[in-house]
Amino acid sequence: MSNTKPSWKPGKKDALFLGVVLLVIVLLVLGSSERTTKATPNDDVHRAATSHETCMTCHGKDGVRPQPVGHASSVQCFQCHTQPKDWQGAGK
Ligand code: HEC
Ligand code: HEC
Repeated sequence: MSNTKPSWKPGKKDALFLGVVLLVIVLLVLGSSERTTKATPNDDVHRAATSHETCMTCHGKDGVRPQPVGHASSVQCFQCHTQPKDWQGAGK
C-alpha cells in the first residue's frame, strides 16, 4: 500500500456512516407518519364555520379549544386540517 495510488475500499467507518444515514431515513419516515394533522371534525359547528375569524372565536387564545402553543399562524386552516366533507363554505 503506497500513498501515491489512492484507492477507496469500504471500511468500518464507511459502514458506520451508511448505518447512520439509514437510521436517520428510517426515523424520518416513522416520524412523518405520526405527524398527520388532525382533520377538522365533521360536526354542525365545523360545517357551518366558514371564515377564519369564526374558527378563531373558539380556537383563538381565549377560546374553548385554543390552538396549541407554537401553532402555525397561517389562516388557511384547511391547508393542514382537512376540511369537513359536508362543509358549507364556498367551494374547495
Ligand atoms: C363554536 C366553537 C368552534 C368553532 C367556531 C370552530 N371550532 Fe374547531 N373545535 C371546537 C371544539 C370544542 C373542538 C374539540 C372537540 C371536537 O372534536 O368537537 C374542535 C376541534 C377542532 C379540530 C380537531 C382538533 C381537536 O382538538 O380534536 C380542528 C382541526 C378544528 N376544530 C378546526 C376548526 C376550524 C378550521 C374551524 C373553522 C372552520 C373551527 N375549528 C371552528 C370548537 C370550534
Ligand atoms: C401549517 C399547518 C397548519 C395550519 C395552516 C393550521 N394548523 Fe392547526 N395544527 C397543525 C398541527 C401540525 C397541529 C398539531 C397536532 C395535530 O393536530 O395533529 C395543529 C393543532 C391544532 C389544534 C389542536 C388540536 C388538538 O389536538 O387539540 C387546533 C384546535 C387547530 N390546530 C386549529 C387550527 C385552526 C383553527 C387553523 C386556522 C386558523 C389551523 N389550525 C391552521 C397544523 C396547522
